[in-house]
Amino acid sequence: MATAAKKSKTVWFCTNCGNEYPKWMGKCPACGEWNTLVEKEVVTGKRPVSAAAPSGSHKPERLKDVSTGAEDRISLGSAELDRLLGGGMVKGSLVLMGGEPGIGKSTLSLQIPLRCPSLKTLYVTGEESARQVRMRGDRLGGDASNCLIYSETDMESILAEAQEVAPDLLIVDSVQTMFCPQVESTAGSVSQIKEVASQLLRFAKGSGIPVLLIGHITKEGSIAGPKLLEHIVDVVLQFEGENRGAYRVLRSIKNRFGSTAELAVFEMTGGGLREVANPSELLIPMHEEGLSGTAVSAMLDGVRPFLFEVQALVSSAVYGTAQRSATGFDVRRLNMLLAVLERRAGFKLGQKDVFLNMAGGLRTTDPACDLAVIAAVLSSTFDFAISGDTCFAGEVGLSGEIRPISQAGRRAVEAARLGFKRIFVSSYTHFDVKPKGIDVVKVADIPALVKSLFK
Ligand code: TYD
Ligand code: MG
Repeated sequence: MATAAKKSKTVWFCTNCGNEYPKWMGKCPACGEWNTLVEKEVVTGKRPVSAAAPSGSHKPERLKDVSTGAEDRISLGSAELDRLLGGGMVKGSLVLMGGEPGIGKSTLSLQIPLRCPSLKTLYVTGEESARQVRMRGDRLGGDASNCLIYSETDMESILAEAQEVAPDLLIVDSVQTMFCPQVESTAGSVSQIKEVASQLLRFAKGSGIPVLLIGHITKEGSIAGPKLLEHIVDVVLQFEGENRGAYRVLRSIKNRFGSTAELAVFEMTGGGLREVANPSELLIPMHEEGLSGTAVSAMLDGVRPFLFEVQALVSSAVYGTAQRSATGFDVRRLNMLLAVLERRAGFKLGQKDVFLNMAGGLRTTDPACDLAVIAAVLSSTFDFAISGDTCFAGEVGLSGEIRPISQAGRRAVEAARLGFKRIFVSSYTHFDVKPKGIDVVKVADIPALVKSLFK
């Protein structure tokens, strides 16, 4: 029984969106997810410090008097990482880097001080021992002279030490292992995670020291994970990668100081993460030409166009029901495209297994990829290779029509730059930039695509 003196109460937290409720509910009213509410005890005696700026030091000021000077930023020694953040890390900001265990969060964050010896960095490790970090650092190479390692999980000690050391950058690995003594629950619980992040935000805002916070996302969804923190932190970077492949995509999904939907590609090598400045190199196929079942899509992620290969394999179903599987692409979307092919263009794919794969372990939600998916499926079905200098960018509608996509011109320009000679787009495409040095093939629907592709 909770006594009045202790002032503890229980609340129900949604593990998906982090909202809290006084009682249990089957469905979270805020995010609509089912069965995500978990009970947590919170101690209310000592007011948990909130995420706002340091108390007492601020007064309201007129909006027009607020200084508009550009934010002060530091470079993290990686052009790609700096670009993703909008031109370096803003001083006094809290950046969350999320991803599944083993994807490379610790590696990338340790590379920062090793690449920027001028940056005095305090690296707090709650997962690995200082010795393990040292071994990793030796493997990564670089200059470790200005990097301090602190193996600690108690937030009080960490903040005291950070005040004392006054580093240029504070890295905390990871939010799940840290705990605040004033919150009565175990490290990694919802209330601990929220409190750790809030304290770090207050520290960052108060001291002007940027903080990079690492958080794990579990495979099954994000139990007490970074999702919970998205509204607290300034920037959320998320690591993605498929099948333990070599390539990792780091996405910015929230950025108070720059654009979101930006992405950077890294390759995990024996000596750490190498930045892939030109992601189209992912696509540079191992084969010269003449393989059926592949088509190149002119993609856009964030503001940057790049090209990559879509691979399809269509074969007769061995068992009764045909299998459909997609890696890096929504399988429901694949099913929809196959249904469109069947109903609108007369291809009987009902008895065929269809496997789809995005090269390099990339994951895409760009609708412009539809046309390349259709082309790859057709190419595999007829065992007819699409010429290696051809690429595609178009969305496919339910009636088999090919719809225009955004920024077609920039995609075409990038394709031309990479040596592509032909790009298939919708007949209704409006070009923002006039593409030069590449033939634009306009197709209105799937039959028209088939006609000009396989004539
Ligand atoms: P790590 O950064 O520990 O992942 P996280 O912190 O996200 O859990 O990455 C560990 C993986 O990276 C591990 O499988 C080993 C691999 N790795 C390399 O391939 N090369 C390297 O130079 C390093 C340091 C790690
Ligand atoms: Mg780690």
